[in-house]
Amino acid sequence: MTKVNKKENERRIANRASRVLPEGSLGNLNYDLIIERGKGSHVWDESGNEYIDYLLGSGPLIIGHSHDEVIEATISQLQKGTTFFANNEKAIHLAEEIVSAVPCADKVRFFSTGSEATLYAMRLARAFRERDKILKFEGGFHGMNDYALMSMTPKKLYEFPQSEPDSPGIPKSVQSEVLVAPFNNIDITTSIIEEHHDEIGGVIVEPLQRLIPPAPGFLQGLRDVTQHFKIPLIFDEIVTGFRLAYGGAQEYYKVTPDICTLGKAVAGGFPLTAVAGKKEIMEHFDSKRVDPDQHLLQVGTLNGNPIACAAGLATLNILKQENTYEKLFETGSVLMRALQDTFDNAQIPAQVVGEPVLFDVFFTDHEVYDYRSGLNGNAQSLTEFNQLLLTHGVLKGATKFYISTKHTQKDVQVTANIFEQIAEILKS
Ligand SMILES: Cc1ncc(COP(=O)(O)O)c(C=O)c1O
Repeated sequence: MTKVNKKENERRIANRASRVLPEGSLGNLNYDLIIERGKGSHVWDESGNEYIDYLLGSGPLIIGHSHDEVIEATISQLQKGTTFFANNEKAIHLAEEIVSAVPCADKVRFFSTGSEATLYAMRLARAFRERDKILKFEGGFHGMNDYALMSMTPKKLYEFPQSEPDSPGIPKSVQSEVLVAPFNNIDITTSIIEEHHDEIGGVIVEPLQRLIPPAPGFLQGLRDVTQHFKIPLIFDEIVTGFRLAYGGAQEYYKVTPDICTLGKAVAGGFPLTAVAGKKEIMEHFDSKRVDPDQHLLQVGTLNGNPIACAAGLATLNILKQENTYEKLFETGSVLMRALQDTFDNAQIPAQVVGEPVLFDVFFTDHEVYDYRSGLNGNAQSLTEFNQLLLTHGVLKGATKFYISTKHTQKDVQVTANIFEQIAEILKS
């Protein structure tokens, strides 16, 4: 694939962006890139350059861009109405599909963003347990709400369980309500829970934290200690839901939480997320089953939006087909191996971390098992790697390769060749 060639038209659009958007961006990926369209595993920029896409809209497009069946399902729903603020069959059908697929899901409520879903999942746990504090893990990402934005990328490495807000504007009082533990360290986590169990309303974890897989026994240990103290365990499965397996990380790692969040793949590229959980906990959303002071109000203009639900159902239909996950994992495994081999052969210290359906490289020769060990990675080298990929026609996010069912052997081969060209550049 030839290197990309930017045209005046794209620069003009970027200039318009800087006039109306802070930093000229939507707050998401801030590359020198205006995407015009996507199809399958590829996107095109406004200069007409084509990229193999491992960004995939930051994960939702697990069956690729503009899949024919998603288009058909959404157009059919568009013709019947776009939103109702009332029960609709598509939303009920999607909830049924989640209940049958996801081990912890007895009941489901829908939201529009992951930040909203994690906010409600934590509120639900607090309401159920009648305790205020949340325990999360250092480096864990749960979106942009006030409770989530604690020690996601802490500047100071405090002694656990002290948290640090990741953003100005978060009330000081929230900081004292969030405890932080080291991912993959069940001993420290258990001792924090033992000490604070009477204050903790819920524990939230990304079962695959960013890219870091759980160490053997870590999730089960977390399940055991939370069960012992009757503290709701929340798996944030916005990324892993319907990606690691049809039943998500809880199926893949064989540990069932009490509550989970779902997003991205479940809505096929439309703004819809969900909280699912055990019946006795989800009852807090049901005014007929709990006292008024125990009832969680949950109203949202686009909750269960029928177009998003139609797109989600069409996506899940494809994912349910035989061998879909085998193929996804095979594609990702080949690429992961190519990435590691390339840097090993070039004698560039690098660790490819993740699962075959989402992974990335840390430029370090140290093992990466939690947030602090991840800091050994050379972030500047990763930025340079991402930039070189982009100029060679490969698009990925700042810290992830996402794999889709639409990535072909040719895509993988071309990408592997580009890895080799880039390793040569990075070496020199
Ligand atoms: C694990 C996790 N939780 C929550 C979120 C927030 O989702 P959203 O961007 O839809 O608010 C994300 C977003 O990537 C995520 O990866």
